Amino acid sequence: MKEKLDKLLRLKKEKDAVILAHYYVPDEVQDIADYVGDSYYLSEIATKVEAQTIVLCGVEFMGESAKILNPDKKVLLPAANADCPMAHMAAVEKIEEIRKEYEDVAVVCYVNSTAELKMNADVCVTSSNAAKIVKQLPNKHIFFIPDENLGSYVAAQVPEKHVILNDGYCHVHSNVRREDILKAKKARPNAQVLVHPECKEEVVALADYAGSTSGIIGYATESEAQEFIIGTEMGVFHELKKRNPGKSFYVAGSLQICPNMKKITVDKVISALETEQPEVILSEEVRNRAYAPLNRMLELAGQ
Ligand code: 13P
Ligand code: SF4
Repeated sequence: MKEKLDKLLRLKKEKDAVILAHYYVPDEVQDIADYVGDSYYLSEIATKVEAQTIVLCGVEFMGESAKILNPDKKVLLPAANADCPMAHMAAVEKIEEIRKEYEDVAVVCYVNSTAELKMNADVCVTSSNAAKIVKQLPNKHIFFIPDENLGSYVAAQVPEKHVILNDGYCHVHSNVRREDILKAKKARPNAQVLVHPECKEEVVALADYAGSTSGIIGYATESEAQEFIIGTEMGVFHELKKRNPGKSFYVAGSLQICPNMKKITVDKVISALETEQPEVILSEEVRNRAYAPLNRMLELAGQ
């Protein structure tokens, strides 16, 4: 490993590169990253780093967002086939239909979406700021794409809006079942239940806290409780345990693993730096049109 780390450091310097990683990638990839965080943090930090090359350890939509926000930088995605299925679960035709049906509609696009969907949206959101941003929009009608569960969560948080849902879902989070939580709670009655809002409404209803991966980590770290049942991808256990060595964390049901996030390996990061491939390439038209909703998210989230 020492040899690999030396090579990585040498390549980073040579290519003027910075490594960003999501909490769901394997532990050893999180350990070599310069910055680790949730989707919002990764979008924001991508606009602040000075290095010319960004190695995005995450799935395709994260690499695309980094590129859209930094058109002059080289963005590398170590596993070209690391794609999020939910990112494709909405249709441009449906957006057009809804725009015809409701004159005053804002199309709110979860960042877990393709660049093509972002291009057709009015604003992007992540799980950490979706409710806050929707609340600030002047529009009464909101078409929330692609995640139905996050859309329902937002609708409950912002009851003054009419939220139109789309039927996309994350297969990792929607697999966490209500019965799993009830069973885990029975086995650990003192544990707090922390879940991601990509989980089903009936699961979120049982939680002591629902929030983004950073939100879950922050809540567990500040809480007086000593035991937690976690309803999100298991990559977060790495940071949870690092920050809270004395506390215990349990998986809500069966193993919650995102196979696409796990495609990123240290070897692939080294190879990406060495070959400068796979690179995220987007046409100028896509970049320009997708920039506005992403940038609007950064502006509204900061208010
Ligand atoms: P956050 O990073 O916003 O918590 O979203 C989780 C996720 O599913 C990313 O793919
Ligand atoms: Fe997509 Fe779910 Fe994996 Fe996140 S955890 S990348 S939403 S499949």
